[in-house]
Amino acid sequence: IRTQVGIVGGGPAGLMLSHLLSRAGVDSVVVEVRDPETIRNTHRAGILEAATVQMLADSGVDGRVLTEGHEHRGTTLRFDGQNHHVDFQDAVGQSVWLYPQNEVFWDLAQARERDGGQVFWSVSDTAVHDVDSDSPRITFRDAEGQEREIEAGIVVGADGSRSICRGLIPDGVRTDNFIEYPFAWFGILCEAPPSWPELIYTNSPAGFALISQRSDTVQRMYFQCDPDTNPEDWTEEQIWARLQECMQGEDGFRLKEGKIFDKTVLKFRSYVCEPLRYHSLVLVGDAGHTVPPTGAKGLNLAFCDVRVLAPALIGLFNDGDDSQLIEYSAKALERVWKAQNFSYWATNMMHTTEGENPFAQKRRRGELTAITGSENGRAYFAESYTGWQD
Ligand code: DHB
Repeated sequence: IRTQVGIVGGGPAGLMLSHLLSRAGVDSVVVEVRDPETIRNTHRAGILEAATVQMLADSGVDGRVLTEGHEHRGTTLRFDGQNHHVDFQDAVGQSVWLYPQNEVFWDLAQARERDGGQVFWSVSDTAVHDVDSDSPRITFRDAEGQEREIEAGIVVGADGSRSICRGLIPDGVRTDNFIEYPFAWFGILCEAPPSWPELIYTNSPAGFALISQRSDTVQRMYFQCDPDTNPEDWTEEQIWARLQECMQGEDGFRLKEGKIFDKTVLKFRSYVCEPLRYHSLVLVGDAGHTVPPTGAKGLNLAFCDVRVLAPALIGLFNDGDDSQLIEYSAKALERVWKAQNFSYWATNMMHTTEGENPFAQKRRRGELTAITGSENGRAYFAESYTGWQD
């Protein structure tokens, strides 16, 4: 198979890139190890920046995000057992949308099928070759077990946090920047009505919790846990007791409980690969960088990469102009490091570490009061959370 852009990975980043390229008449082929139903049923974050929503709606993927997504004009930070509201509209004139990432994926997969995009699902033995030449190749076995080869002008690694593509940037060229965290999130989905009209991020003596939503009848919640936690070791009663403990306060707040039907533990890490391009190989999304989930930047950041990369590839293939592609890595990394900082900062501001010095907890409280207690503090949080307008 000959194409202009070979894309490894059919998650939101790979599919969005393929969609935008096709609208400009640039050919691409996507290969993905999983089948679409598996990806559709993998629950991930649910907050979209306005620019992400705009990309889905304006580029003709689907307007479902506007009718089924929920605009959130603010969020609540809770500490000392009290709610502190941050109004994004007041602070920076922006909103975010609650629309689950697996639905973003589904809309994109449907749009690619509708528009005749070439996507090979359920592939195996994927390998990428000759990325230091002008004719890189992707070899793989398709869903029927047949060996296939894609010859491309550019290969894009959109293959997630366990990317095989990024390993092709030689050690002497690639810098892996990463840190780990001493905690993880225990995530649940439950059948219950919403407990609050917006998201609540809470810091409490029992640790961090996030109260999010999915619909009028399904809620998404998380609480801080040890990274080695096995979700099966926790009963429904224990989970509700911990969540209620994190939310406890003088205001008498109680979560509305219901049957828990999904339990997962999410590991945390912050990672940035530098550079994001090596000759004919380009990385986008989690393949190039991973953030901890606090602040829900992952998918939004992947779409930021795509907003820089799509015009660069269109310039290369339609006009023979490689100038934007040459600038891709530096330009995308500007935003990546801003989001890395925010995700790291918000994570440390909201979580507690076991056995920490009381100084740490009191300092954190000072930080939370500084952020929520002044217009400038709220504006800083709101600007970062809703996504910098650059
Ligand atoms: C959700 C996840 C996040 O990491 C976040 O910061 C906000 C919301 C969610 O799953 O709804």
